[in-house]
Amino acid sequence: MTRSFTAGRLSAVAAAMLISAVLAAQEARAEGNLTVYCSVQEEWCQLMVNEFQKATGIAVAMTRKSSGETFAQVKAEAANPRGDIWWGGTGDPHLQAAEEGLTEAYESPGMKDLNDWAVAQHKTGGGKTVGIYMGALGFGYNEDVLKERGVEAPKCWADLLKPEFKGEVQIANPNSSGTAYTFLATMVQILGEEEAFTYLKKLNDNVNQYTKSGAAPSQAASRGETLIGITFQHDLVTPAVTAGVPMVVVSPCEGTGFEVGSMSIIKGAPNPDSAKKWYDWALTPEAQALGAQAAQFQVPSNKSAPISENSPKLSEIKLIDYDFAKFGSSSERKRLLSRWDQEIGAQ
Ligand code: G6P
Repeated sequence: MTRSFTAGRLSAVAAAMLISAVLAAQEARAEGNLTVYCSVQEEWCQLMVNEFQKATGIAVAMTRKSSGETFAQVKAEAANPRGDIWWGGTGDPHLQAAEEGLTEAYESPGMKDLNDWAVAQHKTGGGKTVGIYMGALGFGYNEDVLKERGVEAPKCWADLLKPEFKGEVQIANPNSSGTAYTFLATMVQILGEEEAFTYLKKLNDNVNQYTKSGAAPSQAASRGETLIGITFQHDLVTPAVTAGVPMVVVSPCEGTGFEVGSMSIIKGAPNPDSAKKWYDWALTPEAQALGAQAAQFQVPSNKSAPISENSPKLSEIKLIDYDFAKFGSSSERKRLLSRWDQEIGAQ
């Protein structure tokens, strides 16, 4: 008796689970699916996905990878695209994807609400990409760790070559990371290409590791695993806000480059309508306010989106006139990366 009662209950539970699974599947079919390739920090990717699902009922599958890695994936899948939208990551590989015909032009109604620099990115990319945030490059360190080492505080890119920083500087690999490519392109623009590669070779003597992800050196610097991390300045603010680490964020004295973090719809996307819904939603002030909630302090592209008080003040930073059309072009990005591989990466 007991046994058959249990069996009866189990099958009722199983039936209920089956019915809800069928209903959920129908709902997902009814409201759509979306595959997002996300190139910012995991916490922000996850929050965006959750809020978009709540707002639209569209079921999202998300993969988080660095900008250069996502570009490579989109390119590798071009004959049979799996992703719908590439959201976040530095602008240069998005521009390269646009030029190589890997992404699709789209004119969102939200375009009219964006800052000029975000619209400029859309224009440079032939309408196939758009700016969603902006951030300046820099470097930083944990003040306590600097005091322990007893060295003078670095203020300029040139200071990072000093012998006392041997094995104390960390940056990502520019092939996988858009941050590190921004650094490479920035040095070329500040110093000229030959001098930039001389600088990078000398810097290589002080680099302890080329990480895969661009923001990793800021976390490592906050934990004292490296003294100096070269990343976007907002990435250096995050450990100060989330863990109270005494991070010092440096805007280098020579001036610095910046990113226009971007978004693109993948050409041949399996779910183009859902991709457009994400695109429109991601340009709204509400969606753009989510970054700060995930302790990510870029400056949003929508003019009405709030700018966090933790965001580095771009107007106070000496920014170079970064040439996105040139350094986001397929030929230039490929050429600089292969030169970096031969002269720096291979060492
Ligand atoms: C971090 C920054 C973003 C940047 C991204 C690039 O997430 O907060 O502003 O776009 O890195 O990532 P990557 O790993 O390609 O350098």
